Order: sequence, then structure tokens, then C-alpha cells
Amino acid sequence: MKIELKELRHVYPTGEEALKGISTVIEGTEPVAIIGQNGAGKTTLVKHFNGILRPSSGDVLLNGESIKTRSTAQWSKLVGYVFQNPDDQLFLDSVKREMEFGPRQVGMPEDKIAQRLKVISELCGLQDKLDMHPFDLTSTEKKFCTVASVVMMDPEVVIFDEPTCGQDVRGNERLSKIVQSLKDAGKLCITISHDMKFVVNNFERAIVLYKGKILLDGKMKDVFAQPDELSKTFVSPPPITRVAIGAELGETAFTIPEFMKAFDAKRGAAKHE
Ligand SMILES: Nc1ncnc2c1ncn2[C@@H]1O[C@H](COP(=O)(O)OP(=O)(O)OP(=O)(O)O)[C@@H](O)[C@H]1O
Ligand SMILES: [Mg+2]
Repeated sequence: MKIELKELRHVYPTGEEALKGISTVIEGTEPVAIIGQNGAGKTTLVKHFNGILRPSSGDVLLNGESIKTRSTAQWSKLVGYVFQNPDDQLFLDSVKREMEFGPRQVGMPEDKIAQRLKVISELCGLQDKLDMHPFDLTSTEKKFCTVASVVMMDPEVVIFDEPTCGQDVRGNERLSKIVQSLKDAGKLCITISHDMKFVVNNFERAIVLYKGKILLDGKMKDVFAQPDELSKTFVSPPPITRVAIGAELGETAFTIPEFMKAFDAKRGAAKHE
């Protein structure tokens, strides 16, 4: 899968220029996190990846084909977008109907729909809620219902917009499991998140947005080695990473074992001086 962004600009009808020329390429299955302060343009950006929003100028190419050539319904088979706010996505009267709707629209065979319903409802913790009205679910379950409905369609790319918002520890663990199972199935996962622990533990590349432009774009460890740049867009590295930076360990540590390794290496080097 290849998503190419070419000088992408988006101006809302209000005159707000939310994207001011974004160029980059997302290729293969390397999971990507898009981060940056509120209003940086993250949601506006990803809504261009399956045509929910159309460029004011510039272009988005999916596997070399301009986004302008097909409808959002057609692109949704390839690129699934899980909305930031579940109430913008859910509209049917049961969890089961929500999950079956997308695949039926794209003509998935009924036996495959039934088989995926079983596996994905369990993955998303909804196996006992299938007959419930989505609006009677807790906010966490609602979020998983939106994830399940998109994953049901078996798209090549799954975009999560703030999936960790309002989640507790168990919800975050389940989300990590879902991302991992999509990665194992060879899917490209893209997330927007303010939760840096979730980001560094599950994604390999970060695209950092600042006022509608790309501020940083690269491997997670290279991006988080630049706290001063990140602070411009109010991104703060996870606590363990900040301690490692403060201790001048010279390594970007995301976990305690990584921290200890860098700490021991520095102590060893100091002894030999
Ligand atoms: N429908 C809209 N009409 C007009 N302006 C909008 C609309 N949606 C977003 N904007 C503006 O575009 C800019 C980018 O918004 P966007 O929602 O893409 O940011 P975001 O990075 O996703 O923020 P958040 O972290 O709060 O979700 C903001 O200034 C926002 O006010
Ligand atoms: Mg947003």
C-alpha cells in the first residue's frame, strides 16, 4: 500500500486553512502515528486518505491513483477510517447491524461476514453486546463498536482517530491487541493520538503536525530525540523518555529495559574514562 501526499492543502468553507501544503509518502505496512496539538490538522489530514474530505489544492495518490477518481464509498474498501467521535459514525439500532453494514455494502459474502463477526466482536470485546443499541453502550464500548465496524470491512489501511480517548488501562491493552492483530494480518495501521505511551509502544513512525504543516517526520526514536521541536506543538515525550533525556543518556528510551541498558552503557563508559 502506498499513500502519497503532494502539496496537500485544505481550506474549510469558513476560510480556515487547516492544511498548508503537506507532502510525504506512507508506504508498506510500517505503522504510523500522527501527533500534534489540538487543531494542528490531524483529523483534516486523515479524512483525505479515503476522500471524506477533498483537497483544496494538491493531491493524494493511493497506489498511484488520485483520490479524486473515486467516491469515498469506493475508497472505503481500501482505507477504513474510525471516526474521532463515535456519534458521527454510528447510526444503526444494534451493534450487529453496525458491524454487518459496511461489508454488505461492499458485497462481502454472507458466510465471510458471519465468520468475521464472530472473530472481530471477540477481539473488540463486544461478543455479548451484539443485540444492544450502540447508544446504550458505555463510551468505551461505543469506541470499540466503531473500530469493529471498520475492521469488519477488511480494508488494507485502518485509520484510528484518537482511539485512546476516554479509555482505561484495559481499553488501551485491547486497542494494542487490535493493532497487533492488524499488523500480523499485513495491514497498515495509522493512528492519531495524544497518548504518547500508546504511540511509542505500538507505532514505528511519527508524523508531527504543527499549524497545518509537518514539523517532524521519521522513526519514532529520532522524532522523540527532539523534545524542543516537539514542545512547539505541545507534544511531550513519555515520562521514561523524558527522564532519559534529562539524564543525558544519549539514547531515546521508551521502556524501562531500554532505559536501564542506556544507563548501564553510560555508567560503563564513565568508569573507563
Ligand atoms: N468543519 C470545519 N469547519 C471549519 N473549520 C474546521 C472544521 N473542522 C476543523 N476545522 C479547523 O481546522 C483546524 C484543524 O482541525 P482538525 O480537526 O483537523 O485538528 P486536529 O489536529 O484533529 O485537532 P484535535 O486534536 O483537537 O482533534 C482547526 O483550526 C479547526 O478549528
Ligand atoms: Mg482531530
